[in-house]
Amino acid sequence: MNHPEMPNLMPETATNADTGWRAVGVSRPHESAELHVLGQATYTDDIPELQGTLHAALGLSSKAHARILALDLAPVRAMPGVVAVLTAADIPGTNDCGPIIHDDPILVTDTVQYIGQPVFIVVADTHTNARRAARQANVTYEELPAIITPQQAKAAASYVLPPMRLERGDAQAAFERAPHVVKGELFVGGQEQFYLEGQIAYAIPKENRGMLVQCSTQHPSEMQHVVAHALGLHSHHVQVECRRMGGGFGGKESQSALWACGAALAAAHLKRPVKLRADRDDDMLVTGKRHCFWYEYEAGYDDEGRIVAARVDMTLRAGYSADLSGPVATRAVCHFDNCYYLSDVDIRAACGRTNTQSNTAFRGFGGPQGAIAIEYVIDEIARNLGKDALDIRTLNYYGIDERNQTPYGQVVAGNVLPELTAQLERSSEYRTRRAAIDAYNATSPVLKKGLALTPLKFGIAFNVTHLNQAGALVHVYVDGSVLVNHGGTEMGQGVNTKVMQVVAHELGVDLAHVRITATDTTKVSNTSATAASTGADLNGKAAQDAARRIRDRLAAFAVTLLGGEAADVQFHDDAVHVNGGSLPFVEVVQKAYLKRVQLWSDGFYATPNLSWDAKSMNGNPFSYYAYGAAVSEVVVDTLTGEWKLLRADALYDAGRSLNPALDIGQVEGAFIQGMGWLTTEQLWWNAAGKLMTHAPSTYKIPGISDCPEDFRVQLFDQPNVVDSIHRSKAVGEPPLLLPFSVFFAIRDAISAVAGHRVNPPLNAPATSEEILRAIDAVTENIASKMGSVPIFQASR
Ligand code: MTE
Ligand code: HPA
Ligand code: MOS
Repeated sequence: MNHPEMPNLMPETATNADTGWRAVGVSRPHESAELHVLGQATYTDDIPELQGTLHAALGLSSKAHARILALDLAPVRAMPGVVAVLTAADIPGTNDCGPIIHDDPILVTDTVQYIGQPVFIVVADTHTNARRAARQANVTYEELPAIITPQQAKAAASYVLPPMRLERGDAQAAFERAPHVVKGELFVGGQEQFYLEGQIAYAIPKENRGMLVQCSTQHPSEMQHVVAHALGLHSHHVQVECRRMGGGFGGKESQSALWACGAALAAAHLKRPVKLRADRDDDMLVTGKRHCFWYEYEAGYDDEGRIVAARVDMTLRAGYSADLSGPVATRAVCHFDNCYYLSDVDIRAACGRTNTQSNTAFRGFGGPQGAIAIEYVIDEIARNLGKDALDIRTLNYYGIDERNQTPYGQVVAGNVLPELTAQLERSSEYRTRRAAIDAYNATSPVLKKGLALTPLKFGIAFNVTHLNQAGALVHVYVDGSVLVNHGGTEMGQGVNTKVMQVVAHELGVDLAHVRITATDTTKVSNTSATAASTGADLNGKAAQDAARRIRDRLAAFAVTLLGGEAADVQFHDDAVHVNGGSLPFVEVVQKAYLKRVQLWSDGFYATPNLSWDAKSMNGNPFSYYAYGAAVSEVVVDTLTGEWKLLRADALYDAGRSLNPALDIGQVEGAFIQGMGWLTTEQLWWNAAGKLMTHAPSTYKIPGISDCPEDFRVQLFDQPNVVDSIHRSKAVGEPPLLLPFSVFFAIRDAISAVAGHRVNPPLNAPATSEEILRAIDAVTENIASKMGSVPIFQASR
């Protein structure tokens, strides 16, 4: 076969097509599963420390917004074990680690902008001594007015970026014609990433100003850039390596930068290895989270429940700097439609500047926040019309041949939602269970059950077009073993396993012969973050390209041994087959080496057909859409606000899954993580602007006991309509939207208190307190409508 110049346009090759041999599309354990279980997987903090290693800690601001009048660090320097204290004045290069806009100081110069902002770095002989010393500074502040909430930010027109707006059709005229209008406000809280391994970087000075940074990061190339800038070096001076993270969830896409820079600054200053590791409280106090959103919404609809006009104004809590808030807001705008055709729509988003942590990427990246607003609207329309919300949802679904263009202009191709929804409706026995729940609620005054089916559509690609590229490096050694390196990072999601499978598939070798190495900026350069769920899509294609280049050389060589045509050579079962004969893969490799055939290759991939005009918010930002839906059934105790998820059924469109076991794991994990976001995980800042929920004692992530006993996750098996890697689809983020069904099942149960006649005003997270507040609002509303009605006797 000829050299594939355009790997992304290549059809599935003949390699293994007819033989049934496959390394992709089969469930394989995570490449590090055994090491994880044995405690032998090396995380950054497990790397053996070099002699002379020092430990750093950050001195944090205790005011939300204040000028520093005096900074007395003498007491810090006097603490046991302290070797050095660094401030902004000690930064040889640029004091900035912002990913896009350069408004993110590594260390404060004169004005602190949130409680937890790093003011200085203390370096000591031990981690504990560094942390103890970090608390001893005497800082004199002159306090300035602080903005904490998105509402305050909007009132003060305090934004980190100009507000954005996407309009289609004529919303105003459509509202004037609309038979009914629903209007309101909604608040959806943020979320802490709560990766199990906290932020960490270990910087090791190398000869001639070089710097090696071992860093837990989703974005080694960006860490390389920010460290080079901070040290006043070039990128070629800085090497960043990451074998794996103990979770990232977006929290290490940009915000590993502070830790990488902090460790590197101290290491360069002292010419000694320095480790900077955050303990959980500092990690939560310092780093940004999922953006909370405040929505003002309005929708017009007809008698059947079809949305004819929609308007939403979303205000995000961006925090003190821009970080990734712009792309997050853009993704929210591009997911407000979720699965629904909105003919006349006006979508606004503004990134409120607040004196809080700078909010950042978190699984879904604004997509979940955009989509939940329209789901809230649909839920209200259904209740107002006395219909089942599922019927309003499907009525508004994007069409296949018409009503199929998003407000930003992309056509919704390969829309499997009608089929997928019907399959889930059947398999979950939605209608029968709805009737059973109504019957239950009619005789159950205190415990109320609720049910909801919610769908998702999620656009796959970075919404910044140039980021959609990747590289890989594949080595075949003379003993036939294969080593793979690519630009993606492993955070538990299984990108390495999938990329290994792709390479094994191309070379026709058993997965056991393929080994993966740490992500390293000296191997593949200029990589994008492993984010936007594109890790396997991009790096899988790049590694496939590299493997195909090697395979093509081996094929050309094999016909010199076996005869036949290079185009007919097949690689499978650890052997090379052509012309009726076959040779073991390792033998072909050894012979090729002796004939001086290059046995390694790079590979590259750039996603085709993407376009985006940020100004008009129009284009084709996504390569394709992933779809899914879930049904959740809950029971709520209306006296305590406690609830339980009784059963969840999820159906997710992973295309032709590369590895169904890993994909099901991702769907389960995203479901439970999203459920935590919408129910128990409450971030709370006090009036002074201090985040008080900075540890698991006050911040409740789901535990195993919160998982439903009856949890049925399935993949919807259909090939991707675009030529993605083996026609698979991304799985990392989209399933985070599946637990919308939990939130709306809780809302359904609450509304049962008053016979589903009023819309419970339920914000997220739907904590027990929030549930009780919503129940009170419903019963008061019904009492004022009906005269005094005994609270729990109303029924549908
Ligand atoms: N799964 C695990 N176990 N740990 C993680 O940190 N991050 C999620 C998702 N799944 C994450 C995860 C996020 S935010 C993204 S963008 C994707 O994985 C990134 O990996 P992928 O693109 O290879 O799917
Ligand atoms: N997801 C994650 N990170 C990003 C994106 C995105 O869509 N766009 C730019 N950075
Ligand atoms: Mo994921 S939020 O794109 O890192």
